[in-house]
Parts: sequence; structure tokens; C-alpha cells
Amino acid sequence: MPALLIRNTRYEIYFCNGFSSMTKKIRRIGLLTGGGDCPGLNAVIRAVTKTARSRFDIDVVGVLDGYRGLIEGNVKELTWSTVSGILNRGGTILGSNNRVNPKQYHVGHDDDGTPQFEDATQRCLQTIEEHKLDAMIIVGGDGTMSVAESLLRSGVNCIGVPKTIDNDIVGTDLTFGFTTAMTTATLSLDRLHTTAASHHRVMVCELMGRNAGWLALSAGIASGSDVILIPEIPFDMEKLCEYVDGRQHRGRGFSIIACAEGATEVDGDKHVRLHDPLSPDPIRLGGVGAHVADEVEKRTGIETRTTVLGHVQRGGPPVAADRVLATQLGWASMELLMGGGHGRIIVVQDGQLNDIDIRTVANKQRLVPLDDPLVKAARSVKTSFGD
Ligand code: F6P
Repeated sequence: MPALLIRNTRYEIYFCNGFSSMTKKIRRIGLLTGGGDCPGLNAVIRAVTKTARSRFDIDVVGVLDGYRGLIEGNVKELTWSTVSGILNRGGTILGSNNRVNPKQYHVGHDDDGTPQFEDATQRCLQTIEEHKLDAMIIVGGDGTMSVAESLLRSGVNCIGVPKTIDNDIVGTDLTFGFTTAMTTATLSLDRLHTTAASHHRVMVCELMGRNAGWLALSAGIASGSDVILIPEIPFDMEKLCEYVDGRQHRGRGFSIIACAEGATEVDGDKHVRLHDPLSPDPIRLGGVGAHVADEVEKRTGIETRTTVLGHVQRGGPPVAADRVLATQLGWASMELLMGGGHGRIIVVQDGQLNDIDIRTVANKQRLVPLDDPLVKAARSVKTSFGD
């Protein structure tokens, strides 16, 4: 991976505009991790805290459990010693949450069990005021950034750091956590090869990624999977089975299918594992792997098994590349804030760090283009997409 560099001109522009002199003096900031946990979050927390304290002499207050902490006023001071030794730890020492949206905060149920919600934006603003937070650094995905957008509208300066194992954030080529998840998925697919080859079976592995296929596509390529199913390329069950059957008869004797949780058949629907009415993003995908395995076994007669990799992909220590990226993003978010950035998110574009408007990221997903070089490379080594 090329070195990531901040485009200096970006900061010169802020200073030239006199933007920084317009912003209030920053003495104390809040730091929040929102959405699903992701390897590298602690590396960002460490980099933000150490940069803020040592380079800018700014206090950092960690908000606990994502936006829930901002609503409930649960925070803790982050010091040099709080963040020491966390660089290589998975998860987030601040806790996270993908079920809380301050705009629609769950406050209980009425008599017939219907969930009751209230707009808790004002409570977030109270916490920010009480703890004298002059700005917020918000680490999260598209859902977390959409809430940042509403804080911005209320006058709170927010700087975003993109996070997700799905790598689906608009405007950035790479999110930290993705490389770790891809590595975990690849190593798991490698292990499935053993059973597939020994038992002459088809092994289907269902991978995360929501509506984007980056994770399944990359891990599928890295593991040499025979079939890769991604949401962006709807598959035809008949063609998929023909391909698998053909491999069996050509003497391969087994097949590995890397299947994204969001993959669908042509004209088919997404497979939904659960519907969480309390979550701002209420759909949890899952089940397509088992469906594919059932159909393949039924139609080809080849013994087939499914593995759902699940949250293993989000767990464990970040790989070195994610530690490096997360550290750079944490540092860059502080540079951006102190350079006068307002409502911006740090992104990776063409191997460099840049920043864009948070609003361009909120509630949107970056999908795999059909002509992406990854798709072309997979096709050129005769990987099937079931299409
Ligand atoms: O966005 C990260 C992610 O792991 C997705 O890949 C997956 O669809 C979802 O979160 C699972 O969410 P939860 O942890 O709520 O089951």
C-alpha cells in the first residue's frame, strides 16, 4: 500500500480563507465510536487522544457506547495512560452501538407493547455543553455519519473518521477494519478447502458486507474460491449449479463458494436474518448461504455444507495495515479539526488522505461497480459469479 499523505494544500486553503480564525478556540473535544465494532477502532482512539494531548494540548472526552452515551451523558476522560497499550486490541474501549439514533431514541413500550421513541437530539446537545466539548470526532459508518449531520445542523462541529469492515463508505477507497476482516475471511476459506477437497464436497461460506460485495469479493479472490456471489451481480441458480457440477465432472471433485450475505438470485429478494425495530438500520441480512447450499445439493446431488462466518470477521486484533491506517486517520482527523475543518470526514482517495463533506457520506453505500478491476481479475481466472 502506498504511503498515505495529507494533501497540504487542503489545509492551506482553510488557513487562506481565514476559516480557522472564524472557528472558536478548541480546548476540549468529544470522541465517539458508533455502529458495529471493527478492528482498528482502538488505534483511532489512541491516535486521536495522543495527538490531541501532545500536539495540541487539548483534552479528550470519550463518549461511551456510541450515541447512547451522548444521550445519557456517559463519558470518560481519555488520558495518555487510558489509551496506552490498546493499539493492537480489537473492539473499542469506548463501547459502541448500532441500535441508537438520537432522532428516534427508544424510551420504552406502551401498554400494547408498541415501542415508544423520542427525539433525543437536545439531550446530546446538553451532554456536549455540560462537558464543554468544543467539537466531536465521530468514528463510524454511513448511519453514524447521518447522525453527525444532524448535530452539525444544531451547531456542533463534527469531524468524521470512516469505519467499517464492509468497505462501503462513499468517497473513500478503503476503510480500516476491512483488511483485517478480509484476512480473517480468507484464512477461514482456506481452511474450508481442506474439508472440501477431502470429502469432495461443495462448501458454501456466507460472509458479511451488508449490501456491498467488497468483503466476499476480496476474500473470494484471495482464497481462490471457485464461485463468488455478491449483491451487485445477481446470480442464476441454474448456471451456478451447472458450473459446480461441471467442476465435479472435470475431476476437481469439490467447490468453494464465497457468498456475500447480501447476494441475491436474479429477480430474487435479500435473505433477512432478523428485523430489529429499534435499530436505525433495522435489517440484518443472513440465510442466503444455507439457501444456496440446499439448492446446490438438491440440484447436483453433491454433498454440500454451509459455514456462516458471522462476527468472527469483526473480531480480534487489527492486522498491521489497519493499525497503520487507523493511526493515520486518527492523527489526520485532529489535523483537520485544528486546521479549521468543519463537518468534514477524512477519506482515502488514490492512496492519499483527503477530506470531504460528511453529508456526502451519510446514509449512502459504496457498491462494487460491475467493471471493477477486482471483478475483471476474478473473471479472468475463471471464477464464476453464478451469472
Ligand atoms: O456493518 C458491519 C456488519 O458487520 C455487517 O457486515 C453486518 O451485516 C452487520 O454489521 C451485522 O450487524 P449486527 O452486529 O447488528 O448483527
